[in-house]
Amino acid sequence: MTTMTLSRRGQEAPASPIRALASLARQAQDSGTTVHYMNIGQPDIETPRGMIEAIQHFDAKVLAYAPSDGFVEYREALASKYYSDVVEDQPPITQDDIVITVGGSEALLFAMAAVTDPGDEIIVCEPYYTNYSGYAHMLGIDIAPVTSRPNDGYRIDPAKIEAGITGKTRALILPNPGNPTGLVLAKEELEALVRICQKHGLFFIADEVYREFVYNAPAGSLAPSLLAIPGAEDLGIVIDSTSKRYSACGARMGWLVTRNREVRRAALHFGQARLSPGTVAQVAGMAALDTPKDYFIKVVEEYKARRDTLVSGLKRIGIDVVVPEGAFYLAVPLPVEDAEDFAQWLVRDFRLDGETLCMAPLAGFYSSPEMGRSEVRLAYVLEKNIIERCINILEAGLKAYHDR
Ligand SMILES: Cc1ncc(COP(=O)(O)O)c(C=O)c1O
Repeated sequence: MTTMTLSRRGQEAPASPIRALASLARQAQDSGTTVHYMNIGQPDIETPRGMIEAIQHFDAKVLAYAPSDGFVEYREALASKYYSDVVEDQPPITQDDIVITVGGSEALLFAMAAVTDPGDEIIVCEPYYTNYSGYAHMLGIDIAPVTSRPNDGYRIDPAKIEAGITGKTRALILPNPGNPTGLVLAKEELEALVRICQKHGLFFIADEVYREFVYNAPAGSLAPSLLAIPGAEDLGIVIDSTSKRYSACGARMGWLVTRNREVRRAALHFGQARLSPGTVAQVAGMAALDTPKDYFIKVVEEYKARRDTLVSGLKRIGIDVVVPEGAFYLAVPLPVEDAEDFAQWLVRDFRLDGETLCMAPLAGFYSSPEMGRSEVRLAYVLEKNIIERCINILEAGLKAYHDR
């Protein structure tokens, strides 16, 4: 009998550090422990009622496939009801610029696949949303990291990015607002990056799934979008999603927006291979577009208050962090050598009044070896009183870990 072996790609597929502690957390939960999940961006905020009702009232004799790039009605509604506020004074987005995908995740995969071949490179500022490297692995491409530092508030000097470009670089990919840094890029920074991409013939994939979540701007503001930057028409690909915006991660509804016809055609053809995004999810997505604006004002206020609770709580226990300007994550330096070991130990062995805390080790958000070893990422997606309890667990846990 001949033995089968997995592909190298299969054998070496990296586990997501966001979900790395999932089985330990499940065991803790099964044994009666209350586990607070700050490792993952799964908010507890209520999904707009209209989305849930659209799913409840969905009625059809056949639950059929949708078109591979999504229902035209949904794309039209996105273009007219949503993007008119995003593009500012630039030419409007039309339904032809949008390809509906299974979450922003699939939009990322399609965008990266559309602009690279195996062996190519994509420039990313680390620490970065770790699943970029999962997709890079799948596609056989390399992440070329440019390190951003807490001392600079994780701001990136465009010249540093330019210096990282090689003959193999095909695209720059950046989340704005940033995960895990919370950095919000200003319009001028996007403009400078677009000029670099133009000069070197690179695509720019802007991951804007947290666009609404900005804290240092007047209520109702949006993070600047690549779609509003002149010169980005051909090179810009924007990733978007209902997951965080409407606290609807389980809908698995996302899309990419690009004015580049070729990229859109490639994404459509990738989409034809998986036939269709979810039909019911798009109906929910349509309903989401009628969410009143004050929903976001309240939600953003709530996240800001949670951020402040977390930042001041960490300060109280002696940990200084870069205060995030957007999204809902925080990179936290811990007084330990190996944050992964500490995070595992905390979930496996440490309880405070029957509770423990699940965190995401930050090393997996870097490509450079040894970076992020003593850091974790926390997602402030839980209520303020729970965040306060999490700080107490962290404080007591650190003490017990050192006293072992
Ligand atoms: C920066 C960023 N991009 C994309 C995604 C993908 O989200 P989804 O596939 O749920 O739309 C996430 C999810 O956490 C994210 O943080």
